[in-house]
Amino acid sequence: MGYTMVYGSVALTRRHALRRLAMWGWAGDAYDAVLIISELVSNAISHGRRVGHELRLKLTLLECGALVIEVSDPVAEFPGFDQSSEAREGEERGRGLLVVRRLGGEITWFARPHVGKTVRVTFPSA
Ligand SMILES: Nc1ncnc2c1ncn2[C@@H]1O[C@H](COP(=O)(O)OP(=O)(O)OP(=O)(O)O)[C@@H](O)[C@H]1O
Ligand SMILES: [Mg+2]
Repeated sequence: MGYTMVYGSVALTRRHALRRLAMWGWAGDAYDAVLIISELVSNAISHGRRVGHELRLKLTLLECGALVIEVSDPVAEFPGFDQSSEAREGEERGRGLLVVRRLGGEITWFARPHVGKTVRVTFPSA
């Protein structure tokens, strides 16, 4: 689904995702999944916003039970991705992707064919 790039969309994506995971009867931790979704959606809004564009959230369930979370934004670059796995002591920011990894999410990203990029997190169900 597409969402406007405003912080109010974070709560909306949380609600929609929780409902979707309940409908699927997903075996994993839906609250952790939703926390991961919030971090990715917040990042798209904070770091990937462009006037006139929206963000997209796509959820896919794999046969192995893992959940694939994809958040797309209109900015093709991801500066600092390689440093984002290093804990930075005492810093207030730069925690979102660390939290995602600590919860067990595996993060990748790729440029989209025409505009922007997709950040993908694969989150196992156990
Ligand atoms: N969608 C994105 N587009 C471009 N850069 C991004 C995106 N998501 C993250 N980044 C970059 O990666 C860095 C690390 O992201 P992370 O979520 O860990 O920290 P943060 O968003 O800066 O702070 P926090 O999430 O703790 O409030 C960001 O500071 C930003 O530079
Ligand atoms: Mg963040």
